[in-house]
Amino acid sequence: MSDTPKTDHAYDGIEEFDNPLPGWWKWLFVASIVFSPFYWMFYHGGASGRSVEDLYNVALAENTRKQFEEIGELKPDEATLASYMNKGSWVKVGQAVFRANCVSCHGREGEGKVGPNLTDEAYKNVANLEDIAKVLINGAGNGAMPKWSNRLHPNEIVLVSAYVATLRGTNVDGGRPPEGRTIAPWPAAPAESDADAESDADPAGDNTDDGK
Ligand code: HEC
Repeated sequence: MSDTPKTDHAYDGIEEFDNPLPGWWKWLFVASIVFSPFYWMFYHGGASGRSVEDLYNVALAENTRKQFEEIGELKPDEATLASYMNKGSWVKVGQAVFRANCVSCHGREGEGKVGPNLTDEAYKNVANLEDIAKVLINGAGNGAMPKWSNRLHPNEIVLVSAYVATLRGTNVDGGRPPEGRTIAPWPAAPAESDADAESDADPAGDNTDDGK
């Protein structure tokens, strides 16, 4: 160490060894500075479809499409709805559809805003599970509740309906007061074996059915 040349700095008798950074380190440093504006321009320069967020959304849509291929086109009938209500990871897909399209009128947890509370036991246009999907497909209240058949994939309609069905009875605080009439409980889910035969696909890939 004592052979190492010293710089000519000396402060209060404290001297400094002259140990320059290795050449390769300096070049990496310079290269990353040169690289950065190009990186920035490509990913953050505002060109659509290139930001990390856009790429994520594209990948997500692609993933959803693949999952939909696996489950085929779901029918908006009672048996299908009842079985998907109990597939936690699919209910989450329904929840994502809800968060993207429905919260402006029904509230983030379904507690109701312009649209009725979906977390109580009373419904205006719904008497059974199938009616939820019907309301979504056809709209209700003379268009106050828009129709979604031309905006959502049929599977999205089934999955968001299943999600809405799971909200029943969660009675979120501060929700709109009940409207309509109290209806009979949802039917029990079909036997597990049926449900499994219908779909082994698990969008979250973790095989957890945690019911939310
Ligand atoms: C523009 C506001 C608006 C949006 C967006 C909206 N809704 Fe509605 N929704 C309403 C209104 C208003 C009603 C009540 C219609 C009536 O009075 O008959 C309603 C009724 C419903 C009902 C029937 C409730 C009952 O008590 O009969 C369901 C289920 C429902 N909406 C689900 C959804 C879902 C799921 C979405 C998202 C895909 C959604 N809504 C998006 C306004 C909206």
